[in-house]
Amino acid sequence: MARILITFAASAFIMMGSIEYSHADDFFKNADIAYGEYLAGECVTCHRSGSSEGSIPNIAGVNAKIIASALHAFQTKERENKVMQLVAERLDNEQIASLAVYFASLTSD
Ligand code: HEC
Repeated sequence: MARILITFAASAFIMMGSIEYSHADDFFKNADIAYGEYLAGECVTCHRSGSSEGSIPNIAGVNAKIIASALHAFQTKERENKVMQLVAERLDNEQIASLAVYFASLTSD
């Protein structure tokens, strides 16, 4: 009986997880860390690894979903910042996903 309950609880948990994250997982399915690293060349002139400098936030080690949603917000001009709007408007979703998983994979310290 206990085993049945545990199995049931575990599968309910997995199902909840996949409903909650299915959209995001789909967005990241074409993400490629190596491509992200290549694209990041233009970002790291401003976003130096590890530390925030002045008005430029640190994005190394930040959750990929947070990075991707920030880039989307600049793209749609929902979030104001001329420089980042210009950077983001040239990126397609595959590039955004790849940059996000690359920066998320870095350590923040
Ligand atoms: C010319 C400098 C510059 C370049 C190049 C640049 N950024 Fe930014 N970025 C900024 C600044 C400044 C901000 C802060 C904007 C604000 O105050 O909202 C920012 C904000 C961000 C944020 C939001 C971070 C947060 O904590 O809210 C992300 C994500 C980001 N940049 C990613 C990128 C990526 C990816 C690239 C390369 C494709 C890139 N940036 C290139 C200057 C730059």
